[in-house]
Formats: sequence, C-alpha cells, structure tokens
Amino acid sequence: MSETNALAHARSRLIVALDVPDAATAHRAAQTLNGHVGMLKIGLQLFVAEGPAIVRSLRTAFPKLEIFLDLKLHDIPNTMRGAIASARELDVRLLTVHAGSGVEHLRACVDEAGDSMGILAVTVLTSQDSSACREAGHTREPAELVAMRTACAREAGCAGVVCSGAELVHVHDIAPTLLHVVPGIRPAGSATNDQRRVMTPAQAISSHATHLVVGRPIMRADDPAAAADAIVHEMASALS
Ligand code: C5P
Repeated sequence: MSETNALAHARSRLIVALDVPDAATAHRAAQTLNGHVGMLKIGLQLFVAEGPAIVRSLRTAFPKLEIFLDLKLHDIPNTMRGAIASARELDVRLLTVHAGSGVEHLRACVDEAGDSMGILAVTVLTSQDSSACREAGHTREPAELVAMRTACAREAGCAGVVCSGAELVHVHDIAPTLLHVVPGIRPAGSATNDQRRVMTPAQAISSHATHLVVGRPIMRADDPAAAADAIVHEMASALS
C-alpha cells in the first residue's frame, strides 16, 4: 500500500467524539477536522440538545465525514426497530445498541438496519466494574459478560462491537471479522482525563482495533487538525 493510501485508510478509521453542547460548536469542530478524520461521533449530549437536525445538517455540510450515532439504544425489539428505521433515514453509517438482551433482540436491530447502516453492540459499559455487575444481578464478571455478548453480536450479524483496549484481544479471538471500535485512546504523553485504562493509537491498532474513538486529545488540542493528523500517522505506521 502506498503511503498516501495507508494514511487515507487510517484516517477513515479515526472517529472524533463530538462531545459538545450545541450545533454551532459541532459545525465549527467538523469544519476544522474535515479531511483530517473519517467519522464524527454524535453522542447523547449533542443529540438530546439538537435532535436529528444535527445529523442532517452535518451530513449536508460535510458529505465526506460519516456519522457514528452513539445512542446506545436499549428497548423491546419492536421499539428498537422503530428507532433504527428512523436512524436509517438520517444516512448514519454506524449506530450503537446495548447487547445485554441477547441474540434475538440484536438480530431485530440488524435486520431493520439493512445494508447501509452498521449496528455496533455495546457489550458492558466500561464504567461497570465487578461490584456494579453484582449489584445489577449479574453472577458473572464483566470480562465474561463481554465475551458472551460479543458472541451474541457475532451470531446476530452485527457490524461490530464497542470495547475497551483491555478487552480487544479477547474480543478479537471471539469475533475476528467484526469491527472493533475502541474509545479510551490517548497518544503518548497526553492527559488521561477520566479514562482509567488507556491505550495509545499504535497499541490499539496492534491489538486489532479497527476504529479508534478519540475525543479530548483532539477536541481540546491547541491545533485539533494537527492532533488528528499525528494520530492518523501513528495508526498508519502501526497498520503497516
Ligand atoms: O474524550 P475521550 O477521548 O475520553 O472521549 C471518548 C468518547 O468515547 C466519549 O464520547 C465517551 O463517551 C465514549 N466512550 C468511552 N468509553 C466507552 C464507550 C464510549 O469513553 N466504553
């Protein structure tokens, strides 16, 4: 692969988390990062504030930036189907749902999403440790739940899973062909903020991550485009 192609490939796999409060801030960030990242992650903060209009306006203004709608949906299959049908109308590339309800629930989501939108299964929230799982009635450790739910995602035909760097190798053993989307990424020397177990871009790619989600190390950098470019270079080197 030529260097230009390797960089384009890496860039398409870098997702910036638009954890911002309003549409104006989101558009300014997208303008700055257009051509430097592959995908914009819209999470609950921005979606609850601005609604589907923010997805439509970003798609129109920046058609080359794909949208990852991180709503972590969880409801009965009929309601999930309705939500997913609505998301499909927004021209979203990836959508997250919780994996905790089993294969049939996930299969309904995948079926409704069709071919153009990938369903990503969230296995266990990284904020849930052993004691939180016990409190919630689970008899298994978080790592076991991650393994079981990754297997469910594979059986249901999900496009991929969201997992932490610590789980990557295990997830890869269970579902090697699924996308492995990994947050908690920190370039060497940058602040960890509230993330506990972080990985550098190179470590994550070497552990089989297919897509990296990066928020503050890009969004709060003095030069966000340069910060994104540096991560893309690190990813491209690790991929080669
Ligand atoms: O700023 P930072 O790089 O820590 O942002 C990471 C993004 O990934 C945030 O949008 C956060 O909500 C999301 N995320 C995460 N851990 C998960 C799932 C999603 O940090 N397990």
